[in-house]
Order: sequence, then structure tokens, then C-alpha cells
Amino acid sequence: MIDINELLFSFSKSLDLIHKNFENHSLTVTYGSLRLSKALNRQDIDDNLLFKAAVLHDVGVVFLRSNNIVGIFEERAEDLASHEKLGGEYLANFDYFKDIAGIVRHHHTNFSENVDIHSQIIHFVDRVCVNIYKDRMTYGDIPFVKKRLKIFIENKKKLFNPAIYEVFFDTVYDDSEFWFYILFPNNISYDYLRKNFGLKLTVTDIYGAMPLIQFFGDVINNHSKFTRYHSERVRSIASVLCRELGLAREETMKVITASFLHDLGKLAVPVEILDKEQKLTEAEFDLMKLHPLVTGHIISEVKGFEDVKVYAENHHEYLDGSGYPFGIKGEDISLGSRIVTIADIVASFMENRPYRKAFTVEESVKLISEMAASRKIDSDLVSYLFKYKEVFHELKNVDGRIKL
Ligand SMILES: [Fe+2]
Ligand SMILES: [Fe+2]
Ligand SMILES: [Fe+2]
Repeated sequence: MIDINELLFSFSKSLDLIHKNFENHSLTVTYGSLRLSKALNRQDIDDNLLFKAAVLHDVGVVFLRSNNIVGIFEERAEDLASHEKLGGEYLANFDYFKDIAGIVRHHHTNFSENVDIHSQIIHFVDRVCVNIYKDRMTYGDIPFVKKRLKIFIENKKKLFNPAIYEVFFDTVYDDSEFWFYILFPNNISYDYLRKNFGLKLTVTDIYGAMPLIQFFGDVINNHSKFTRYHSERVRSIASVLCRELGLAREETMKVITASFLHDLGKLAVPVEILDKEQKLTEAEFDLMKLHPLVTGHIISEVKGFEDVKVYAENHHEYLDGSGYPFGIKGEDISLGSRIVTIADIVASFMENRPYRKAFTVEESVKLISEMAASRKIDSDLVSYLFKYKEVFHELKNVDGRIKL
């Protein structure tokens, strides 16, 4: 059984890897928003909605380049405006997130009675967190950081709801527990938030969690302009292989989940490297090679996703040991991982990359046959896939969906 909020909380941490300024940002804004809401104690605040909006409030940054991300922290008006608009409009495309799209759309909008109270809270806490984390701090810096924060917020007083401003400085500001969690954000666990801020337990199985899993697959796709629909293509091919192998429903769902999430760690790779047209330098390629480990790290936080983690983390391993990050080989690479690996290779052959054009169906079939012949990838799986050569043609569809 999966707690859907816990899954959202864990996956949203991948957004905090997107730029050094973002370190723990969604995490601390989520904690701070819930903490402030508790102090405000108002009937019109829904903490579950606030949680959901706060963890994803900056999802719009996946569409931005690094210098525009910096702009959000340096308070450049155009960067503040663009990422809240991109994020709000993006979330509105997903049924599961329609209820927070408007909140995210206005999380940098200046106070007026017309602005949703949840947006007002996130707006205030976001600026508090941006100021607090200007520099690295230790325990001894807290008095200085508190003073600096007070001046910073006072100068912007007219941007915020006066009721929020007052309650923050009357209660939260002098709460040592607040400063403890701000100083050691790794202690902000989902369990802590749930127990202390009355978050609903919303339990489901992996089928019920699929809209969320699919959403994060799509978030990753959008980080680079070359990977639009990539995770959907990987999912399509993996589904065909699972069906041909006669895998049980539960195992199939694990493979599909890993297919959507395999590149989660790419959010940690700067978009300038992902989209680079020239050959990557050795140092850049080393960075790139970290992404499966980061994927594994994020997924490892989710209880019940142990197999999914392995399948996703091993999607660049080859049977002959020449893959990465572990260089494991043969029997050490599970069937689920082999499926995701082949699906990822086939999907990427069908797509343009910054350094090459998409291969034709014939070229792809040839390249995959060669990889199977040299025992890099599982030749049995490849022959299953070749029973359906039309898969390759369907993958050329714009959205990567196949109808077999
Ligand atoms: Fe923001
Ligand atoms: Fe933010
Ligand atoms: Fe990858």
C-alpha cells in the first residue's frame, strides 16, 4: 500500500536538485507553510491542499535555463512571473493537480483579498526561505540570520497579507523548533509532517498512484527539449515486452513505474549539459553518469518501491559489464532492469538528440541487433520485440504511444 502524499513528498525532492539555490527549497517551503498555517489557525486553510501546492510550487522551473532559475532567487520580476505562470498552466493539464494549479499560478502575486490564502502563505514563506538560505549557516549564525530576515521582510511588507506577517513574527519567528528544522532540513520527514500538521492518510495501490508516477515522468521529459514524450515511449515498449513475457500484473506495474521514473535523476543534471550539441567533455559525461544513482536515491525513500528502484537505477547497465553506474553484468541484472534498459535504448534511437538526428526504423533495428549479438543487451528480449516491428513505426508517433 502506498500513501499518495508520501510519494508526492519523496518525488518532489527531485525538484530541489535542479540548481544549487534550490537545495531543500520545496522541502523547507512545505514545512514552513504548514508551520505558519498551524499558527494562523484559520478555517479557510486546507492543510492538505497547502501541502500539495507547496511541494510543487516551483515545478515551473523545469522549463527554465539556469540563469533564469537564479533570477527567481535574485528577485528578477520576469523570472518570478514566468515560472509561476509556467508551473500553474502546466499543473492545470493534469486532473490530479487541477486543484492546486491556481494556487501555484499566483505564488508570487502580491497580496490583495482576491489572492487565494494558500498562495499568500506560500508566497510569504518562499521569500522567508530564500532569505534564510542566502548563505550556508551554522547554529551560531541564527541570531544574525533572524535579524537579516526581519529587515528583508519588513522592506517588502506591502507585498504580503498583514495578518500573515504579524502571526509569523509573533509566533513562528521565535520558535526554536522552527529554527531547528530550518537548520537541519533533513529531519523534515513526511511522517513528521503528517503527524504534526494533520495531513490525511490517502492510501492506494500502485494503480491508484499511476497518475502521480506518470506526472513525474512528464516533468522529467520537460527538463530537456529533446526528451518530450521519452518516458511515454519507454513505457510503451516496456509494456509490450511485459505482455510478451507473460509477466504478472503487479510485476508489470513495477516495470512500468520504473519506465516512467528511470531518468528522475536527470533533473540534477544542468539543462545546458542535457541539451549540449557538441560532444560532452569527460567531466560533463561523468556528471551525466550520476543520474541513475540519483534516480535510485530518490526512489529509495518510497516504501514498497524496492524493486522499482533497482529496475530504474540499472537502466544503463549492460550484460557484458560495460554499462554504468555499477558495471554489473549478466545474472546480476534483473529481468525488470533488462526490460527498462532495452525500452530506453529503443526509445532514444527513435528520438532526436542534441548531437544526432533520430535514427530511421531500419537503422534502429540494425543497431539493436548488433547490441544483442555482442551480448550487451538481452537477445531473447530483443527477439520478442522484433516480433512486433510495427512497434518501431508506431514509436515515431509524436506522443510515443503505441496501439498494439
Ligand atoms: Fe516560485
Ligand atoms: Fe519557491
Ligand atoms: Fe538515463
